[in-house]
Amino acid sequence: NWVMGDFVQLEIARIRELVGDRALVLGAVSGGVDSTVAAALMRAAIGDRFKAILIDTGCMRLNECEEVKQTLGKHLEINLTVVDAGELFMSRLAGVSDPEKKRKIIGSTFIDLFEEEAIKIEKAAENTPNTGKVEWFLQGTLYPDVIESLSWRGPSATIKTHHNVGGLPERMMKGVSRSTPRMFNPFFCTNVHGPSSKGCVLLFKDEVRAIGRQLGIHEDLVNRHPFPGPGIAIRILGDVTQERVEIARKADHIFISMIKEAGLYNQISQAFAGLDTNRSVGVFGDQRVWGYIVILRAVQTKDFMSADIFDFDNAFLKNVSRTICNQVDGVSRVVYDLTSKPPGTIELE
Ligand code: XMP
Repeated sequence: NWVMGDFVQLEIARIRELVGDRALVLGAVSGGVDSTVAAALMRAAIGDRFKAILIDTGCMRLNECEEVKQTLGKHLEINLTVVDAGELFMSRLAGVSDPEKKRKIIGSTFIDLFEEEAIKIEKAAENTPNTGKVEWFLQGTLYPDVIESLSWRGPSATIKTHHNVGGLPERMMKGVSRSTPRMFNPFFCTNVHGPSSKGCVLLFKDEVRAIGRQLGIHEDLVNRHPFPGPGIAIRILGDVTQERVEIARKADHIFISMIKEAGLYNQISQAFAGLDTNRSVGVFGDQRVWGYIVILRAVQTKDFMSADIFDFDNAFLKNVSRTICNQVDGVSRVVYDLTSKPPGTIELE
């Protein structure tokens, strides 16, 4: 019978059996706990034949890519390749305000870039004995993301097309390898050891965190709030521009730092600052200004399918608002989102 404690050993054995002793595995890493745990399992199972890639969309949090690279290298001995693609994403997103269009553009740009990386990796491995092609694509996606993305009751039932679900293995790297890489997901897969009689693993966030702890992943990383693949781009209501990303990024950094300083980070499941790109009037000194509206969001949830808002002290929120207005140019107002999920979703788009 399946128990959580066995998962790591069973999964490593399953990876070795499926991947064999020649194939290469490409893995998307984001710095979040899910992709980090998936990467740690793959690294433990096949060593350097696992190639971890982080795509810098230009819409990441402050200093995020460098921090993720260092953490993975130091604690997990994973040599992460960071692909700096901020300008490409920004140019493809120019003038796009529809959230689903943003997700689709970002998703297909991710695939283009993974495709390029796979070609480079296969070229580099050409003269390495006993090394095959990129046959697998690793992705640590959780069940709730899958449920909300699949349109199994028809297209109208799709809540959001999380960019990282679906479409990847089908489209990716056609013609690069001898065969299209297959998707490998340690948290959501069928026909393996698993809790149900059908042999299907469906892991939730708290279970993935428990596995992360078993693997010795640092507590800060294990407890890290999730961050969506499209990043700040889906936290800006409206067109994404460099200026708007920078404003949202600075405001977010202030909010999260103040949450950490107040010792509240681990009581909150996910928090961020987004941007309403309508302008609102403010007064700075004796000047009238016309600035953006920062939206603060913080929720508590177990499964991310429903969520309650976090009850901050008003004094704390006032302090965050004052600090953001004082330190981030272009912001005239800060609001706190009081909507639970449902009806609101966790992200603004
Ligand atoms: P929502 O907004 O759907 O968020 O209530 C639920 C969880 O999913 C994350 N999320 C995404 N993750 N790509 C991702 O990788 C996406 O397009 C996406 N949209 C939402 C969100 O951050 C939350 O943890």
